[in-house]
Amino acid sequence: MSSPSSSGGDGAGAGVEVRELSHRYERPEGRLTVLDGVGFSIPPGGHVALTGASGAGKSTLLSILGGLEPPQSGHVHVGGHDLDGLDGDELASYRRRTVGFVFQHFGLLETLTASENVEVALTLAGTRARARRARAAELLAAVGLADRAGHRPGALSGGERQRVAIARALANRSRLVLADEPTGNLDERAATRVLDLLEQLPAERGCTLVVVTHDRSVAERAPARLHLDEGRLSGP
Ligand SMILES: Nc1ncnc2c1ncn2[C@@H]1O[C@H](COP(=O)(O)OP(=O)(O)O)[C@@H](O)[C@H]1O
Ligand SMILES: [Mg+2]
Repeated sequence: MSSPSSSGGDGAGAGVEVRELSHRYERPEGRLTVLDGVGFSIPPGGHVALTGASGAGKSTLLSILGGLEPPQSGHVHVGGHDLDGLDGDELASYRRRTVGFVFQHFGLLETLTASENVEVALTLAGTRARARRARAAELLAAVGLADRAGHRPGALSGGERQRVAIARALANRSRLVLADEPTGNLDERAATRVLDLLEQLPAERGCTLVVVTHDRSVAERAPARLHLDEGRLSGP
C-alpha cells in the first residue's frame, strides 16, 4: 500500500445518516418530487442494496450521497461530513477524498489504458506519477487484472471493464463506494464476479457499500435492503 498521505481517504468505512431528505426536479410539465422525506442510516462498513422501479429516484439518492448533487432539504451526514452544509468546492473535495463511484456503463475513458483510468482519480488528488502507477498496479491486481493494465477499454470484456471501474473507485481509499446498477451490462458470470468483488470491500477494506439494482437476485445478496417507492423508503 502507498502512503496514506498520498491517498486522501483514511480507509475506514464512512457511516451514512440521512434524515428528512427531500428532492424535487422542476420540469416543464411541473414539479416532480423524487424523494419525499426519506431517512435511513448505514453503519461504517455496512453493505446495503437500494432497489426501486425505474424512475423511482435511486440514482438521484446516490448522487446526493456521492456529493454530485447538493441536498435540497434535510440532513445528510457521511463519514463526519455534513453534506447539507458544504459549498461546491467542499463537495468536490468530499467526492475526491471520500467517494468511489461505479456506474452501469463503466464510465471509463476510452483513450486511456486500464492503468491510466485508475490513475485519473489519483492525479486529481495530487499523487505523484510513480506512486500513482504503483497504486494502480496494486488495485488492478486486486481485481484480477494485473495483466491487463496496458489495455484500453475497447480491448477489455464488459466484466473486465467493470473491474477496472471498481479499481478506480477504490483508488483514493474511498470510504464509501456507490455502485449504480453495476451489473446491468454484464452476463451472469461476469456479474457474479463483479458482485463477489464489490461485496469483499466491506470485509476487506472496511468500505461502506451501496449497490443500486433492480435485479432481485442482486439485492438479495445484500445483508440490508432499502426500497424506494413514490419518494418514500421502506425496508426489505
Ligand atoms: N436533472 C433532472 N431534471 C429533471 N428530472 C430528472 C433529473 N434527473 C432525474 N430526473 C427524473 O427524476 C426521476 C428519478 O430519476 P432517477 O433518480 O434517475 O431514477 P432511477 O435511478 O431510480 O431510475 C425520473 O422521473 C427522472 O426522469
Ligand atoms: Mg438510475
